[in-house]
Amino acid sequence: MGSYTAEKITDKVYWVGAIDWGVRDFHGYLTSRGSTYNAFLVIDEKVTLIDTVKKPFEKEMLARISSVIAPEKIDYIISNHSEMDHTGCLPSVIELVKPEKVFASTMGKKALASHFFFDDDVITAVGSGDSISLGKSSITFVETRMLHWPDSMVSYLDTEKMMFSQDGFGMHLASTERYDDQLPSQVLLEESEKYYANILLPFSPMVTGLIKKLAELNLDIQLLCPDHGPIWRSDIGGILQRWEKWALQKCSLKAVVMYDTMWKSTGYLADAICDGLQSQGISVRVMSLDSSHRSDVATAVLDAGALIVGSPTINGQMFPRMADVLTYLKGLKPKNLIGGVFGSYGWSGEAVRDVEQYLSDMKIPLAVPSLNVNYVPGEDDLLKARELGIAVGRELKEKCGE
Ligand code: FEO
Repeated sequence: MGSYTAEKITDKVYWVGAIDWGVRDFHGYLTSRGSTYNAFLVIDEKVTLIDTVKKPFEKEMLARISSVIAPEKIDYIISNHSEMDHTGCLPSVIELVKPEKVFASTMGKKALASHFFFDDDVITAVGSGDSISLGKSSITFVETRMLHWPDSMVSYLDTEKMMFSQDGFGMHLASTERYDDQLPSQVLLEESEKYYANILLPFSPMVTGLIKKLAELNLDIQLLCPDHGPIWRSDIGGILQRWEKWALQKCSLKAVVMYDTMWKSTGYLADAICDGLQSQGISVRVMSLDSSHRSDVATAVLDAGALIVGSPTINGQMFPRMADVLTYLKGLKPKNLIGGVFGSYGWSGEAVRDVEQYLSDMKIPLAVPSLNVNYVPGEDDLLKARELGIAVGRELKEKCGE
């Protein structure tokens, strides 16, 4: 099966997941540092597998399980989340293991049936507050609907004080290190922020609810175990606080100037707008779509108070790459932003109109009238662009109460 070994986490829990060093495109999200698919094996009277892995990594997971116990000895499988990076090999694992029970939430049972055409008796549905005994330990389930799928739930293993949080508090990061304190804090911050921005942002109100619910449950969590990235053992409070902060998307004196350009005209305007914003004390990220992936733009927007967008017109429309990124951002529903629009054109200038429509759909009010420049910006145009930046900066400061 290959040389893969389980990693002991506690006396009775092993990490038996898989490391995906090479993945870079996770349905549109640039996973620059790869990912892990975490699965956990609990050794008790009822041997229990918590989550599985993406289908191509099935052998890796089974080899890691086999380094502890024969997979056929697994009694229970828990599926916290039905998305196929955690369930792709579930049908074949069920076939191999023939577990006594497979647990999922009520919505999870439906989702798994829709994915894998399971008979009704394959999955046992559990709800919030339900517990199962594994022998000496027990697991309690808490549904976390829409975090980030309707089926999502988390599982708490009492004797080990471990919370298995599926995608929650995770990040895409391939590593041989299993714990947060073994990895550079800057990498953890970058990747968890990127994960939040690209996966959780549209569900921020539910995130706020979950953090509150976890506090109310008053569980003693010593190990927070997501399905991607490291296990949190040193900074559980920190990751909860960061999620809480990101969910609020409070007003911030930061701006993202995102643009695409054909012959640099829109690029010159972007630089002048940046200069104007800077003159107002605003921290600016200028992101050319030539070198910025949509998922990196989304991460920058999470932390911003203003989004200023520029596109040239090509064939009577905005640039296709801009339409891509705006479509992506629109779906993520960022909140609490003010906007600005600029562009350049030859004989028609529809890109500005197209971008304005997107910002309107995203409920991002324009702080200033848009700037649309014919061909190459002259000194006057660059001054106007700088003034646009100054005006957005002033409005942002006023909004943030500065
Ligand atoms: Fe990692 Fe939503 O799956």
